[in-house]
Amino acid sequence: METETRVRRATSGAFEWPEFEAMFEERLAAEDFSDATVLDLGTGEGRLALALAPLAGRVVGLDADQESLAAARDRARELGISNVTFVPADADAANYRLLTRSRIDYVVANHFMSEAVIGATAKALRPGGRFLFACHHRDQWIESGRVGRFSFTEDAMRDLLTRAGLTVIFLGVETFTVSYAGLAEIEEAHPELAAKFRADGRWATLTERFGDGPAELTWSTLVGVAQR
Ligand SMILES: C[S@@+](CC[C@H](N)C(=O)[O-])C[C@H]1O[C@@H](n2cnc3c(N)ncnc32)[C@H](O)[C@@H]1O
Repeated sequence: METETRVRRATSGAFEWPEFEAMFEERLAAEDFSDATVLDLGTGEGRLALALAPLAGRVVGLDADQESLAAARDRARELGISNVTFVPADADAANYRLLTRSRIDYVVANHFMSEAVIGATAKALRPGGRFLFACHHRDQWIESGRVGRFSFTEDAMRDLLTRAGLTVIFLGVETFTVSYAGLAEIEEAHPELAAKFRADGRWATLTERFGDGPAELTWSTLVGVAQR
């Protein structure tokens, strides 16, 4: 199994947030999606599904949120992409094969992950089919003092994939430690995240830690490729 760790520092403002993590993009670019049926879990507004559709036979984007799916369908129409469909479902409970009504060559997931999803993916992929994902690593926002429920270490993810019957081809971690002039700059750069942190108490932890001074946030993504 290949493993890789990349750690970089960046300064907010001077840092251009990528559409997808470079390590994930590289893994996607190494696959041949032509004629493939691809299922994008937690597709949201279809960012990944729409990026892959021109390369693939057919893409199905799945999400629990109807509003996001409607935005994804609008975007597909705007782009003139017709080989993608967006379906509402709970990825933790759905039978992916019934949902796509075909064999599945690839399951992909960008910043959406759970233990249930790994099990359902292992059942749904055709033999030889691949699961490519980017999800929160345990170090994501470590400064906020809390580990996210859906964040994973390399070891925990390797165990989950293997126990589900998948062969791990690649696991890597891409980490950016971003420095900010202060908490106000975090709030300005990531208003939704700041609101979430305020609601769940993590903002208080950051305030205790950084006060009025400069602040830092770690953005750490676990990237993986596994094969049925
Ligand atoms: C962080 S967003 C990522 C969206 C998208 N993959 C992207 O790269 O832009 C996570 C998405 O997962 C969806 N989601 C959360 N729980 C879900 C579930 N149980 N089943 C299906 N989708 C779910 C949310 O509605 C949201 O659109």
